[in-house]
Amino acid sequence: MLNATTIEPHGGKLIQRELKGEERKKYLDKAKSMPSLSVSKWTISDIELIAIGGFSPLTGFMGKEDYLSVLKRLRLDNGLVWSLPVTLPASKEDSKKLAIGEEVALIGDDGITYGVLKLEEKFEYDKEYEAQQVYKTTDSKHPGVKKIEEKGDVYLSGPIWMLNCPTHEPFGQFYKKPIETRQMFTDLGWKTVVGFQTRNPVHRAHEYIQKLALENVDGLLLQPLVGETKEDDIPADVRMESYQILLKQYFPVDRVQLVINPAAMRYAGPREAIFHALVRKNFGCTHFIVGRDHAGVGDYYGTYEAQELISQYEEEMGMHIFKFEHSFYCKKCMNMASTKTCPHSNEDRFILSGTKVRTMLREGKTPPPEFSRPEVAEVLIRGMQENK
Ligand code: ADX
Repeated sequence: MLNATTIEPHGGKLIQRELKGEERKKYLDKAKSMPSLSVSKWTISDIELIAIGGFSPLTGFMGKEDYLSVLKRLRLDNGLVWSLPVTLPASKEDSKKLAIGEEVALIGDDGITYGVLKLEEKFEYDKEYEAQQVYKTTDSKHPGVKKIEEKGDVYLSGPIWMLNCPTHEPFGQFYKKPIETRQMFTDLGWKTVVGFQTRNPVHRAHEYIQKLALENVDGLLLQPLVGETKEDDIPADVRMESYQILLKQYFPVDRVQLVINPAAMRYAGPREAIFHALVRKNFGCTHFIVGRDHAGVGDYYGTYEAQELISQYEEEMGMHIFKFEHSFYCKKCMNMASTKTCPHSNEDRFILSGTKVRTMLREGKTPPPEFSRPEVAEVLIRGMQENK
């Protein structure tokens, strides 16, 4: 029986790689004389998720064996299910300056030393192969493929320590590490917890599937991703405001917790669904929602491909995946429904693409209440106008 108070982190141990107190001070000092590497926002979020245990069992950036094994068979080299590479890119020039065995300070654009890498390996990789395996395409229009094309040609690998945790303001009050969410679930007496990943505002279809799941478990962890997303996605601050309004007005407060996920969005569809679920397992969730076209972008993945792929690994992952079909409001049913429960045609259904909704919001047009709660739409329109 799945139980949030006892569910093991992936691989059996919650990884903690954050240095604190005296040891941190000592390392910060030491880092001043280490060779350094300047790292992107995406890498900083990876450092953080490794350090706080969100990516357990990873203790650092992947070496070649794990990397190739993940690409080829969705498993770490030791056989544990893992679907996406977590790697540290560097240019050939930068990598030449670093020697195996050395400690390297990982520094952001802001001059902050976020972490230290103990360099164990450097390897060149095949960008096309990675794109094809991870994203199922080599099309540069895919945001994930574009990222691969832009990054350095060499991966550096080895264990890391985090020296400075990003602050996440203005969402600091919604930040919790896996060790804290796990304790929170115990304190709340939640034995079963469903995790919900989102990079969009919560529309009625999202709310519907969240509530269907809530009928079956003790609590919902609404965990929007606030790390790097593609440019035309709705900014995290606007989304966060919309989640709070929705929760306040339409959810039982004692059965939902809003906690941010600082990870970067990969847009890797089916593989990312597994990745998202494993991260939520580390945060203490027993259940996870995968709806239609999870973590998809454009037409690169089939509507239910993520559900099909995750089904093959669900048992091994030790979680229960709630799979929901395409949901919408149906005029004839006069209710929220899905392709599984509604016999009517698309003309009777309120179905709007994400792109269409974003365009409407930017133009100050309110989506119909059957699609989006008016209170949520109001926040989104205001936010999109301010962000123009
Ligand atoms: S995602 O990139 O984070 O997956 P989004 O925030 O839109 O995008 O989706 C969050 C979750 O809700 C995903 O599991 C997705 O499959 C699901 N979902 C989104 N819209 C619908 C819908 N209309 N019907 C069923 N599931 C949906």
